[in-house]
Amino acid sequence: MKPKILVTRAVFPKVIERLSQHFEVESNQQDETYDEAELSRRLQGKDGVFSNPTDRLSAAVIQSASGLKAICNMAVGYNNIDVPAATAAGVMVTNTPDVLNETTADLGWALMMAAARRITESEHSLRAGEWKKWTYDGYMGNDVHGSTLGIIGMGRIGQAVARRSMGFNMKVIYNNRSRLSPELEAKANNAQYVSREELLKNADHIVLVLPYSAESHHTIGEKELAMMKPTATLVNIARGGIIDDAALIRALKAGQIGAAGIDVFENEPNFNPGFLELKNVALTPHIGSASLNTRMAMANTAAANLIAALSGQTPPNLLNPQVLQK
Ligand code: DGY
Repeated sequence: MKPKILVTRAVFPKVIERLSQHFEVESNQQDETYDEAELSRRLQGKDGVFSNPTDRLSAAVIQSASGLKAICNMAVGYNNIDVPAATAAGVMVTNTPDVLNETTADLGWALMMAAARRITESEHSLRAGEWKKWTYDGYMGNDVHGSTLGIIGMGRIGQAVARRSMGFNMKVIYNNRSRLSPELEAKANNAQYVSREELLKNADHIVLVLPYSAESHHTIGEKELAMMKPTATLVNIARGGIIDDAALIRALKAGQIGAAGIDVFENEPNFNPGFLELKNVALTPHIGSASLNTRMAMANTAAANLIAALSGQTPPNLLNPQVLQK
């Protein structure tokens, strides 16, 4: 008998076909939203779950799924899963690192350029028929080339953001839980490790790429925004909740910082409507990893993890190896 799995959200049909060769699959190609109660109900009798960042796999959900052996998330971020609860229940948890580094870094750059050079704002103005004549000071933004790029969270995506700055003749400063090796700093455009405060005060453009956790909640709030340059650009390609969105909206409205490029929001998709009243923002709906190749690679990575986990092998991207000792 094949192990039973739940695929919580719609995914590429080819990936469902691949999973079906190994498992009895309950899929959700209608893409309904499952709340915690529905997830618990559907996980009864399942051996594994192919999950998404939108699924809340809380301690209660995990504990209610007594036969569950593996949760394989189709994302690098896994703050939707209570990993300690999974470990305590002997459930393996995996994510999809690396395959999305370059695509997500590309979006960070797109948002930085769009915000700094007022692309979203000027396009809206053009579409609204407001472009009557060229003026010497129309839509003047801030240069990206030759400026200082500040990166908070210098993991693999942060380093990919830094590498892109070489062609723009930029200086890179970064802050991270730990300092990179000299070899990695050299590859990241000779990035210099600085304190959080130094970064906030000196960077012209700041890109947030740190994972969400209780400690990183509201890493950027009123106090941090007040330290930034009045011309600074702030980009979030990490997770909603890392910025205090209400404080950011107030700062952008008051012209306390220059502009922001935001891909991830608190309480998304029900984000703070105050963003829509602002001109100095470029907004995207959590599309950091959204290219066909990358989403396909993420789905196949999650599938490979699930296949390994339920066939007695160690999944390549196991986040809680302690479960193997149980
Ligand atoms: C991730 O992988 O964590 C992304 O945010 C999902 O697209």
